[in-house]
Amino acid sequence: MGPGPSNVAPSVLAAQAAPLVGHLDPAFVKMMEEIKGMLRQVFLTRNEMTFPVSGTGSAGMEFCFVNLIEPGDEVVIGVNGVFGTRMADLAERCGARVVKVEAPWGRIIEPEAVAVAIERGRPKLVAVVHAETSTGAWTPIEDIAKLAHAAGALFVLDTVTSLGGCPVRVDDWQVDAVYSGTQKCLSCPPGLAPVSLGPRALEKARQRKSKVQSWYLDVNLLASYWGQERVYHHTAPISMNYALHEALRLVLAEGLETRWRRHQENHLALKTGLAALGLELVVPERERLWQLNAVSVPEGVEEAAVRRRLLDEHRIEIGAGLGPLKGKIWRVGLMGETCQPANVQRFLTALSACLQT
Ligand SMILES: Cc1ncc(COP(=O)(O)O)c(C=O)c1O
Repeated sequence: MGPGPSNVAPSVLAAQAAPLVGHLDPAFVKMMEEIKGMLRQVFLTRNEMTFPVSGTGSAGMEFCFVNLIEPGDEVVIGVNGVFGTRMADLAERCGARVVKVEAPWGRIIEPEAVAVAIERGRPKLVAVVHAETSTGAWTPIEDIAKLAHAAGALFVLDTVTSLGGCPVRVDDWQVDAVYSGTQKCLSCPPGLAPVSLGPRALEKARQRKSKVQSWYLDVNLLASYWGQERVYHHTAPISMNYALHEALRLVLAEGLETRWRRHQENHLALKTGLAALGLELVVPERERLWQLNAVSVPEGVEEAAVRRRLLDEHRIEIGAGLGPLKGKIWRVGLMGETCQPANVQRFLTALSACLQT
């Protein structure tokens, strides 16, 4: 019940343990097509360029930035936690002039603040984290995407923790480039980064003046492997793709709306149970994620000692605070398979026991 990886269904583990076929085998190629199709359904997009990058969520972030940023480009990045900070670092490494739109950790990125940053410069790209896992803040992105487009910039969205746990509507929101990870609300082991690029982003990647500095993540090369040509690029992690195929099948069998509702309901049950213990969530109610709950550590309670006891005595793992929230919060994940009423109850009972003695 930490910030990810989440629990993985037995059928996903079984799929991952299946015998290997070659990565250009017709059976695997068929599976690649099915994965692309299922990812389109989960991202709610028609984007042809939708596939899992070989690597974790950070590889998805890097994929978007190395392809879409050229040295000297101005980019506007929302920074309200660890992952916005990482985005800004990565954009700088791509040679961008980074303008940060900062918000306190535990709060969302406000469109008004993005508008001010956009007006001051001429950004080529605007990027935000949808679900900031380090704090539990859920930034609404529709208005930010509109502002980016009105200024002629591309809009990039991090959905590592949101995808599969709350609405992500890539086409409706006109997100130009989006990336995620497998190990949060998709409940698959870590190791792949689902990505999707829309037409504007693809155009930018194709019209670049400079070569993409990463050979491995160059979309122009990856397109020949994940597209119809099937030109060898790298050896896809076969077993991880087996696992993702099964995990996506489970997500779609449950249905996106039902799955989102399950995350909302368990979050509300957790919130009610925490309140009964006299505990509060850090993020204001309207800005709160369902799948990542940042709980304020009460005065006089030793944060790390409680986490240790939950693990040692109750076999429950939760996460610690990071950066300015270190020592001040617990991060309780209700992601994918982990997001079950029984887990909420078990956690509340265990936490109550740890706080009483
Ligand atoms: C919002 C967000 N973005 C990016 C990442 C990086 O993903 P990974 O750790 O899989 O590389 C994470 C990981 O927790 C995340 O929560």
